[in-house]
Order: sequence, then C-alpha cells, then structure tokens
Amino acid sequence: MTQTAVLNQLYPAFTVSTAQLRLMIESFRRDMIAGLTGKPASLAMLPSGLTKPAGQETGAFLALDFGGTNVRAFLIELQGNGRHALLKRRDAPLVDPAGLYNYAAATATAEELFNFLAAQAAALSESNRDYCLGFTFSFPFKLYDAANAVLLYWTKEIATSGVAGKNVAALLRDALTRQGMDNIRPAAIVNDTVSTLIAAAYRDAAADIGSICGTGHNTCYLEPGALNCHGQPTYLNIESGNFDQAPANAYDRLLDRNSERPGAGRLEKGCSGRYIGELLRLVLLDLSHQGLLPPLPAGGPPPYALTGKDLALLLEDATPDLQGISHWLSELGGADGGYPGRAALKTAAALISRRSARLATATYVAILHHIDPGLTRRHVIAIDGSLYEKLPGYAAAIAETLAELLGQSAENVSCRLSKDGSGLGAAVAAATTLGSAAFTPRRL
Ligand code: BGC
Repeated sequence: MTQTAVLNQLYPAFTVSTAQLRLMIESFRRDMIAGLTGKPASLAMLPSGLTKPAGQETGAFLALDFGGTNVRAFLIELQGNGRHALLKRRDAPLVDPAGLYNYAAATATAEELFNFLAAQAAALSESNRDYCLGFTFSFPFKLYDAANAVLLYWTKEIATSGVAGKNVAALLRDALTRQGMDNIRPAAIVNDTVSTLIAAAYRDAAADIGSICGTGHNTCYLEPGALNCHGQPTYLNIESGNFDQAPANAYDRLLDRNSERPGAGRLEKGCSGRYIGELLRLVLLDLSHQGLLPPLPAGGPPPYALTGKDLALLLEDATPDLQGISHWLSELGGADGGYPGRAALKTAAALISRRSARLATATYVAILHHIDPGLTRRHVIAIDGSLYEKLPGYAAAIAETLAELLGQSAENVSCRLSKDGSGLGAAVAAATTLGSAAFTPRRL
C-alpha cells in the first residue's frame, strides 16, 4: 500500500470534526443529567462529599496517591492563604521494572497491594507522632463516609484480586495496623480528579473543573445542585472515561474487544495514556501488515508494550529524515522500510494524540454548558497527568478546541496544569474533614 493510501485511511479514522464534537457535547450533557437523576447512564456521577476548601486550612498531613502506574506518598504542610510546603516525598512503581513484583496483576492479592501502599506512607512518618492521611484512590468508588468507600470496578487494566467490591479505606487501615502504624489515620478518600481540583481550588476559588489526562482519563466538577449534609455544593466524580458515545474506529473496536473489560471505559480507551500507546501499536501492526513497514519480528511488540512515551518520542522527532523514528523501530527489533513508513507513524501519533485532546475538551465544554450555560463567569479547569504535561501539542490542542467550540466565551475559561495536585488535594481534603461532620456515616 502507498503512503497516500495509508494516510487516506488514517486521517478519517482518527479525525473528529467540530460537528461530531458538538453532537458528543449534547449526548454527554444528556448522560450527565441521566446519571444525576438516577437513570441508566454511562456516567456514574459519584458524590465526593467534599466542598470547596477555604484556602485557610493548615497543618501537616500525609497524602497517599495511588493511580495506575505509580504510588506516591507525600508529607505536606498546609500553611493557609493557599500556600503549602512539601516536606517529604516518595515514589514507587506499581510494577517493578526489574520484574520483582507486579501489584497490578490478578496474581497479586489485596493484602499485598495494600501492604505496599501502607509501607509508602509509613516510610515518610515517625512512629512517635500522629498523622492524618488523605488517600487519593484513582478509581471509581462509592463513598459511604469520609473514610470508607467501596471500589466499584478496576480500570486502566489493573486486575489485583480481591479488591473490587471491597472497602478500600478499610483495606488501607488494616494494612497500616499490620505494620504497627495505627498512628496514621486515613481521614479522607478522594478520586484523583477531585484531589487535583481541590489543590487548584485551595489557591484559586475559580477552579471548578478537575481532570486527569494521564494513564487514565476522567473529570470532576463542583455541582451546584448536589449538596452535602451542611447544604454545601459538592464535587462530583463523573467517571467520564466510561462515556460510551464518543466516535470510534476499527482500531478502537479491536482494542476494546481485547481489553480486560470489553464495552466499558470507551472514552478512556480513545483518550488516555494507558490506551493511546496500544492504539499506536495496532496502527504499527497494520502498517506492517499493509506493507508500508517491513514485517516485525515475533509479530511486533506485545499488547500494551507501547505507551504515551512512545507517542511523545515519535512526535518530538524533528529531524528531516525522521532518524529518531528509525532508531525507535530498530529498538523494537524491526527493520526500517524507508521514509514513507516513518512519516506515516509520525502522522498516526499526531492524529491519535490530537483526537484524545479533542475528545477530552468536548467533555469539558459539556460540563461548562451544564454549570454556566451563558459562560458569564470565570472558570479554571485544573488538569494533571502525563499527556497534558508532557505530550507535545496536547495542551495546545485542548486550548484550540476550547476556542473552536466556545468562540469568544473561551476567554472566560482557562486550563491550568495542577502538577502533583492529587497529593496536595488529598492533604487539603484530609484537613477539611477534621472536626467536621460533613459526612453521615453509614454501615457498609
Ligand atoms: C478511573 C478514574 C480516574 C482516572 C484517572 C480512570 O481509569 O476510572 O477514577 O480518575 O482513571 O486516573
């Protein structure tokens, strides 16, 4: 197949027009309302119980952040006036690069995973001091009270046994007890979108939407109509990655069929770092199959071997003859069939990345239409995650798409990187629950 024929196939497959985005905005809004009113919907709209921080919270707090790739622990001092100091930090991968452990696989147990999580927090603490901990748990959970929540299902291809359907806050407490760390008290459990937003709102009251464009994808917002028991508007975790009406192509359908949960997480599978590398792999195999690239040894890289980092590498290759991509192909063990194949790969990476940013932006616009239809006030969308922070052109594509969809009103909306917001936000969330009866405890 010629390069032109391949591009004629890739462009329509991965391009989402303005008209398609507008349709998506409407269906996303309808699904939000359905989720809010308890009707069947792909959007879970999960209450967080938490309201806007005052920005004046103070004290030292532990924060534990469990996403899909790394576990991060922080000791943070909140200083009030929206200020904080990071006192200690520790990062550990969920899957050991040397192959010594894999806490994300079905072979790992809940106890092993939570022992590992507790050990990260314990490593930052002293045994003769008491700590209050905010736990960012970046998965869909149903909250029962400030520190009790049940994992609904795993996402991002995590498959650790014995966790889905369990009280994950209790699993953490038990693991801390096993390690003799009863001096660490988990006080709040928060989704990462919510902690990212709380971190931004601690500094700027206009922050009312929080999103992750990283290994996973999801967004939360401050819902004026969802009140906690003090009558305050609360943050809702939309679980937007589960939205099921985004445009999809043959590569998306193939990826979905072979995933841990076929049919679920459809938007996330078109959008997030866990999956866009896999989409690139499927295109790579296709290009090889169609003869634009030479056959790949052993059938090419295994499923999920490519990540957002590979897309970044292809996008960053600015050499006239795409030498970086040639080197990348040889590292995969493949021969380099010539410039047309390399150029097609670079185009595929650009198309996949741009589509991801555009789909995410459509959901932001739907939320903005819901909370402020006339866009009469200022909104800050706090975003964290490796795609937003590191993928070349990604943040710019979100800003451009906002302007395309909102016109002049886009001036009232700004996107802001909330780097490591999930750590700071978990600390602030723990602080806001102190001495407050913001949650009505229910039996599990
Ligand atoms: C999870 C969300 C999370 C997002 C970003 C998704 O897979 O379902 O709860 O917020 O990833 O980490």
